[in-house]
Amino acid sequence: MRTQLTALALAASVLAAPATEILPRVSDAKVCDDVSKLCYSEYVAFSGVSYRIAIPDTATATAPYDIALSIVAPKAIGWAGIAWGGAMANNPLTLGWSNAATAIVSSRFTTGHTMPTAYTGASYTTLPSSKTNTTHWQLDVVCTGCSTWSGKTLDPGAAASLAFASSTTAPADPSNNASRFGIHNAKGKWSQDMSAAKLAGFATLVQAA
Ligand code: HEM
Repeated sequence: MRTQLTALALAASVLAAPATEILPRVSDAKVCDDVSKLCYSEYVAFSGVSYRIAIPDTATATAPYDIALSIVAPKAIGWAGIAWGGAMANNPLTLGWSNAATAIVSSRFTTGHTMPTAYTGASYTTLPSSKTNTTHWQLDVVCTGCSTWSGKTLDPGAAASLAFASSTTAPADPSNNASRFGIHNAKGKWSQDMSAAKLAGFATLVQAA
């Protein structure tokens, strides 16, 4: 009897326990932002940072296209970024971090394993849905120049190898997108199905966002 009760109690406690999130995770369904109304394909890294991507459904591999990126990070994350070519060096890097009540974007590039410097090959529009609240910061941008570099274009119909990096130490001067910052304490790669990130009506939705 006691064994049965113990087993019952155990089963009840397992049922009552909150589901433990297993990271990293790629979302099966799109994740839509309440404020911007944009819907993204999402990858959540083991660091707890979500990297969300949306591209026009009309994108082709023969011409550059804009990419909407949303980075949602717990407050403990000082900076987080994406390497569009799947490695730290020789491709556009998009970094974000919390700045007061919002978040800012920093466009970077490096040819090696040293602090990436400003990159003018990509330009960004920061959406008003970017924010910092008591638990998280969120950077929502549209990048022109992240889909193409060194003469190659990310194939919007295939899987792309993307990389992420983040640090729990914030940049030296958070209000300045050219600020110095230190090395990551989380980094990795994932395979992003670019066709899963396609969003119908992209340009109109971005305009409205
Ligand atoms: C002060 C800035 C940075 C420094 C000093 C730095 C340094 C390094 C070093 C020394 C490595 C190789 C050793 C290791 O595996 O830890 C590395 C690897 C890596 N870093 Fe950085 N890093 C910086 C910023 C960034 C940024 C901003 C990104 C992406 C947004 C990034 C992405 C990566 C990735 C994906 C790797 C894995 C190997 C590779 O792709 O080359 N790093 N970094």
